[in-house]
Amino acid sequence: MLNYKETIKQLPNKLYKVLKHAGEIGDVLGIKVYVVGGFVRDLILKEKNFDIDLVVEGDGIFFAQKLNEKIKGYINVYDEFGTASIELKNDIIDIVTARSEYYQYPAALPTVKMNSIWHDLYRRDFTINSMAIKLNSLEFGNLLDYFGGLTDIKNRVIRVHHSSSFTDDPTRILRIIRFAGRLNFTIEEKTKQYMQKALEQNMILKISDDRIRKEIIHILEEKSFSNIISIMECYGIFQNIDPNLIIKKDTIKKLHNLETSICEFSKYTRNYIDKNIIKIMHILESFPLDKLSNILTKFVSDKKCILTLIFTLTKKKDVYIKIKNKKLDKYDLYKILEPYSIESLIFYYNDCENYIIKDHIRFYVKNLKDIKIDITGKDLKSLNIKPGPIYAEILNNVLKAKILGEVDDYIDEINYVKKFYNIRKNNIDT
Ligand code: CTP
Repeated sequence: MLNYKETIKQLPNKLYKVLKHAGEIGDVLGIKVYVVGGFVRDLILKEKNFDIDLVVEGDGIFFAQKLNEKIKGYINVYDEFGTASIELKNDIIDIVTARSEYYQYPAALPTVKMNSIWHDLYRRDFTINSMAIKLNSLEFGNLLDYFGGLTDIKNRVIRVHHSSSFTDDPTRILRIIRFAGRLNFTIEEKTKQYMQKALEQNMILKISDDRIRKEIIHILEEKSFSNIISIMECYGIFQNIDPNLIIKKDTIKKLHNLETSICEFSKYTRNYIDKNIIKIMHILESFPLDKLSNILTKFVSDKKCILTLIFTLTKKKDVYIKIKNKKLDKYDLYKILEPYSIESLIFYYNDCENYIIKDHIRFYVKNLKDIKIDITGKDLKSLNIKPGPIYAEILNNVLKAKILGEVDDYIDEINYVKKFYNIRKNNIDT
């Protein structure tokens, strides 16, 4: 039997200790304890993964409470599923009771019943994610590989356990492509056929918006996400989600270049940049505008994000036409681009090849976007200007002057107002 004790010892000490304690508590309680899933896969692949999933053949919640007494994290208990999680400073440990699952109907959430580690591993998605390492002291580090996961890792292959895997859980269609792209593994032939059959049966449409969104976000957060998007397109996944969702080769290229654009713009702004939103804008760039609202909930849940996406995609052509003009002055440029978030601007920049447009967006973010005036209404009041709509007009004119480089600091601004207000007064008087 292969043993990974020495490899585990090389993990950061706090992780090693958690695994050691878990085994020892299992010894005391007389139950078998395993670390399973992605952690084992990545340990074998020598990839960093500090998400510990523990499976115990016994009362998982009681075990979790005992473990938490030792490692002193924050415990959450989910009675109905027989699971618990322990939050440590930067890590989360998930604990489940070994179980098999049966499905009431395809794509439903599983109903849980107690069972052994074999069943627990068999119910999992792919062989590479279905290995366990025993943690009880006497067998600490022993690998349990009932389904050939290790050989599949060596052959760089992803394989499901049985023909109904994708109908049991259609999110696996998205997961298999994510792992294939991330690990650069191929999908085993039979598995590919099962997946294609599930696609023909439109199983993707059975996934709730909530779950599909979570999977899409996982994909967008992968380093090799543009590669994964390209594999998804090859298998027709996007058209399965919505027949109008077509990802062009050109879009993949743009997604590939996106990180460079984000890096460039992050030099010019202190704003937080939500990369996922920009990626979603690219994915939806050719989607019919009048049908956008039907698909957005599969990508984002936040209402503000939905509005930003609709606004950005709808206005794209209009913005490009306006800022294509070489002779645009700084204030006009400011006024055109002001309504857009940093994410929308990076999308517009990355989406377009016209160098005048690109230069204008870059110039705006670098030099104009964060320009603010120093004076406020209070200053206007102390200049004895009677409050009213004229305040907005004056402040706007000060901003314009600042953008055009006619004023620089607070004193300049005050002087400008004095001058501006006098001129206006004269105009009104005459
Ligand atoms: N799993 C599954 N079917 C799913 C989701 C998860 O069988 N639809 C199992 C797999 O064994 C997986 C484990 O639950 O390894 C943990 O799931 P998750 O944390 O989502 O995946 P990881 O494999 O840890 O992937 P990642 O590295 O992306 O976190």
